[in-house]
Amino acid sequence: MPGPGAEFIGEEEKKEVLEVLESGNLFRYGSPDDPTFKAKVWTLEKRFAEYLGVKYCLAVNSGTSALLTALSALGIGPGDEVIVPGYTFIASISSIVYARAVPVLCEIDDSLTADPKDIESKITKRTRAIMPVHMLGNPCDMNPIMEIAKKHKLLVIEDAAQAGGASYHGRKVGSIGNIGIFSFNVFKTISAGDGGAIATNDQDLYARAFAFHDQGHSPLRQGVEVGKRPFIGLDFRMTELTAAVLLAQLKKMDNIIKMLREKKARFKKKITGSGDFSFRKLNDPQGECATLLTVIFNNKEKARSVAERLKTTTVDHSGWHVYNNMEQILNQLTVTPEKCPFTCAYYKGKQAYRKSMLPQTDDILARSINISIGVSDRGLGAGFGITATSDNFRPFFCDSLIRSATVPASWVSSSQG
Ligand SMILES: Cc1ncc(COP(=O)(O)O)c(C=O)c1O
Repeated sequence: MPGPGAEFIGEEEKKEVLEVLESGNLFRYGSPDDPTFKAKVWTLEKRFAEYLGVKYCLAVNSGTSALLTALSALGIGPGDEVIVPGYTFIASISSIVYARAVPVLCEIDDSLTADPKDIESKITKRTRAIMPVHMLGNPCDMNPIMEIAKKHKLLVIEDAAQAGGASYHGRKVGSIGNIGIFSFNVFKTISAGDGGAIATNDQDLYARAFAFHDQGHSPLRQGVEVGKRPFIGLDFRMTELTAAVLLAQLKKMDNIIKMLREKKARFKKKITGSGDFSFRKLNDPQGECATLLTVIFNNKEKARSVAERLKTTTVDHSGWHVYNNMEQILNQLTVTPEKCPFTCAYYKGKQAYRKSMLPQTDDILARSINISIGVSDRGLGAGFGITATSDNFRPFFCDSLIRSATVPASWVSSSQG
């Protein structure tokens, strides 16, 4: 299975799903008086909000729709720039384009998350928001990011798709900015195959997010509120079946992370001091998910030669999380030829993207190798690095190391540490 949560689908998930199937009621809405209505989505929203320590949570059908919904809730649109790191999943960037705003790429630092110094240097008078991405389970350095946001009066959308359950100095990621998003796709801490969520403490943002995700309706929708809808929405609703799986998975979240941390700590200890590398910076070592361990070599040549011996790649070549490999963004390949929002009359800036435009990011990723602890991609293209159990480690590390780092055999991967 690709991600840790998916490894733990079991009787608990079956029971929850059966309850929904037997009720025959698969839609997120229903009456509390109707015994067939199991209210799984509502319950998930409540429990996830409690888990995160936020007032409001909205369940949606993917992390990508969560991002678009969050941006729309914040009122980000034509003429706006949003700062986002050049090392992230494409959805962080594409959701900004679909909100009709313009993504401005920033550098990462050796935590493999957005470099606060570079974020500040990318601010213009058009900047409306910063989108820090808690990449590969590692929380971004949120204190300086929030300070920069406050100083420049910017909004913060946390993309916590890859870091469900992680925390930054005692606060769950996704609960620190104005709004946060999560993904429950198959590579994530907990999974229902697909799914997403939005978290916020702001009631207005919640109401706007709710309206956007369901045709303009308000949160307590029981029917059609003709005449009261604030704007045109879409349909990104979660079904009762997805929520049923996630209710069972949510109960497992903390144990999954605990287990990943233990495995990662063992593996890390074994390889510490065995070469010219350091580990990526953890902005809160107690708070990360530990899905991956990233080693950063002193120079590119060494990294490349070790990667070759391990039959994997350095992170710069690891797949579609690297801006250099996102031809649709680099070439502004919008679905129609006008190239909105880049050419939109409301947009007064000029944004050109090109390969190698982020030298610090390129340098760090060319020196890094991701070792997967709990996520794999089975050649699906995400490039999650190489697994701690893989036989590929034999030429580089000793057999006893491999044995000591054993994780389930199916967690075979190659780039999320
Ligand atoms: C950082 C990041 N943001 C957003 C997403 C989008 O999530 P989804 O695949 O659920 O649409 C992902 C998914 O992999 C991701 O890794």
